[in-house]
Amino acid sequence: MSIRSRIVGCGSWLPERVMTNAELSTIVDTTDEWIVERTGIRQRHIAADGEYTSDIAYKAALDALKHAGAEVSDIDMIVLATTTPDQTFPSTATKVQAMLGMEKGAAFDVQAVCSGFIYALAVGDNFIRTGQAEKVLVIGAEIFSRILDWEDRGTCVLFGDGGAAVLLDRAIDDTSVILSTHLHSDGRYNDLLYVDGGPSTTGTVGNIRMSGKEVFRHAVVNLAAVADEALAANNLSRDDIDWLVPHQANLRILSGTARKLKLGEDRVVITVDRHANTSAASIPLALDVAVKDGRIKPGQLILMEAMGGGFTWGSALVRM
Ligand code: UT7
Repeated sequence: MSIRSRIVGCGSWLPERVMTNAELSTIVDTTDEWIVERTGIRQRHIAADGEYTSDIAYKAALDALKHAGAEVSDIDMIVLATTTPDQTFPSTATKVQAMLGMEKGAAFDVQAVCSGFIYALAVGDNFIRTGQAEKVLVIGAEIFSRILDWEDRGTCVLFGDGGAAVLLDRAIDDTSVILSTHLHSDGRYNDLLYVDGGPSTTGTVGNIRMSGKEVFRHAVVNLAAVADEALAANNLSRDDIDWLVPHQANLRILSGTARKLKLGEDRVVITVDRHANTSAASIPLALDVAVKDGRIKPGQLILMEAMGGGFTWGSALVRM
């Protein structure tokens, strides 16, 4: 059998402070009713002053290692997906590497915005498949609250902060394995979802700008397509999916994708109500919730999918 990888543990961390829609409505012209009806979001976690993406990623990594029963010395690679790194450089992954006390291997960041976790998982999976790594820590961590324009009600109500991680190891057999990952991007849509700053343009960090309706339209189409692509590549059908663990951007997008796939909402892990959109952290956060509360069981088939700025989108089909 060719080498493949599997998920052997997951973990997460959310900042303590919770901001409700009611609190947001004291900052911008919005209401709890509007946010819940249009997005399904009820609250989000917001990082504390002095709390950085590396802090969140580190705590999520420790939680995943504990769940996997693994030691820091076991890891030979960290792939960290983030759009909100501590600094332009060094990578947040190398900061986490130092915090963990990991003195070997390699650590680097992956930038694919809300698809970041799927991209990072694909990178980790492929390093294991080629035999270049054996145990890879894949992390998604974000502090989106720091790149929001808190006067733009069209975006600031949508996002939250958090982080989550999975530990990948070599698969032993077919009962627990990452079956496939599929990645896509189309840079023609750069200007529908972007940040209006950056090191080589303005020399500033910038704020999120989004054409929400356009993004929504593309998301529903691309996410259903990438799900079917994953199933076809593995000769599986929609009925085989035990759980859809989607990127948590908007409940209407989640429900729309589930409907297209003819999956009941009882087979969709939904955390957008509690976490809002945490970009690269949203899928592993949802996965961790559903693994730890016992919904996702060993051997079950999980379909993860995401879409984000770029546009980027992708899927991972995983036998847990
Ligand atoms: O993770 C990356 C991918 N991102 C996404 O997937 C986000 C995709 N887009 C969306 O989720 C939705 O497009 C939004 C939630 C962002 C917006 O929902 P919508 O149903 O597309 O609303 P809209 O932008 O068309 O706005 C409808 C109305 C507008 O007022 P008028 O022009 O009809 O008078 C907006 O000004 O709602 C208004 N509005 C708000 N009202 C209260 C926009 N934001 C708010 C707000 N509170 N926060």
